[in-house]
Amino acid sequence: MISSTPTLLITPSDHPASDAQREERIANPSFGRIFTDHMVVIPYRDGAWQRGELKAYGPLSLDPAASALHYGQAIFEGFKAFSQPDGSIKTFRPASNSARFNLSAARLAMPALPESLFMEAADALITIDKAWVPKKVGESLYLRPLMFATDPFLGVRPANEYLFVLFASPAGAYFPQGVKPVTVWISEDYVRAAPGGTGEAKCAGNYAASLIAQSQALEKGCDQVVWLDAVNRENIEEMGGMNLFFVYKEEGKTRVITPELTGTLLSGITRRSLLQIAADLGYEVEERKLTVQQWRDDIASGKMTEVFACGTAAVITPVGHAKAKNFEIKINNGENGPVTMALREALLALQHGTANDTHGWMHQVCA
Ligand code: PLP
Ligand code: COI
Repeated sequence: MISSTPTLLITPSDHPASDAQREERIANPSFGRIFTDHMVVIPYRDGAWQRGELKAYGPLSLDPAASALHYGQAIFEGFKAFSQPDGSIKTFRPASNSARFNLSAARLAMPALPESLFMEAADALITIDKAWVPKKVGESLYLRPLMFATDPFLGVRPANEYLFVLFASPAGAYFPQGVKPVTVWISEDYVRAAPGGTGEAKCAGNYAASLIAQSQALEKGCDQVVWLDAVNRENIEEMGGMNLFFVYKEEGKTRVITPELTGTLLSGITRRSLLQIAADLGYEVEERKLTVQQWRDDIASGKMTEVFACGTAAVITPVGHAKAKNFEIKINNGENGPVTMALREALLALQHGTANDTHGWMHQVCA
């Protein structure tokens, strides 16, 4: 049931960072380490969303029996706000994140949050913390909405009480090395998502289950994991917290291929956007299954010229090498490729307001 709700109570922080402190913190933001002055919390109980509050960022108080801590009803999203040339702030496709948040909620038997409330919370938080939005190209304010079960009850069933939280973090490059090709580990020992499971949901448990494979990737000298399908361990699914794209050059044509959505991959909003941007740039686009063997063969024959990963946090990141137990693939000589960089530039130009928003993807938050 989606119930209507009263608007947020606004309680500004009584201890915001000073201008100098804020400027220092956002000077080189990297990813996910600093947080703005405020957050939004909206409780759900008695079958309805209650009046939420925008207040000072700070710790939450939780009952030790809160069921999210035991049984993992916890979901999240990620989207970004960008400073525009005229000084205004816009978010990129926030309604798509709201829709995916509710798909994740449905999969985990959690209540839907009305899109109007999601948007109101985001716009209010970004507006009050506007000074925290970095201005350089490639930098943004990353918004992190989440929802988890707060019921103090140890029975295993969907909870009756939840908390929606939204906070914001100034963000620069996701990978410390900046836009340089990453090396990926094709995981043959672990899977991320199985048919009928939660792969399509953005739930905390998916990430917890991925960490051992990510540690293995680091041990093997790689930056990230590439996941294969759980049944045959043949089809390429996605990479860490990003979707994958493969670039082909044949008979003078450029084709951009991404693994099709099978229910076990996360339906990335960057992925969806790049399929459109690639078509706008005149590339052929295709969503289909692609096996590891095809990846090896098509690199060997020279048909496949570039590989990159995409996601909100990491934008577009070139993949320079892929390693597995018994083989290694070198892509584009381990260097950034022209199609990857053209797509990255087009996406960033759109987000930063230096290209026309022909698809109406940008949402004006405040002047
Ligand atoms: N795949 C996974 C597992 C993710 O966590 C993410 C990040 O959100 C993505 C793909 C990319 O999705 P999006 O482009 O919506 O950020
Ligand atoms: C994102 O790109 O927003 C992600 O969620 C990836 C990762 C930080 C979990």
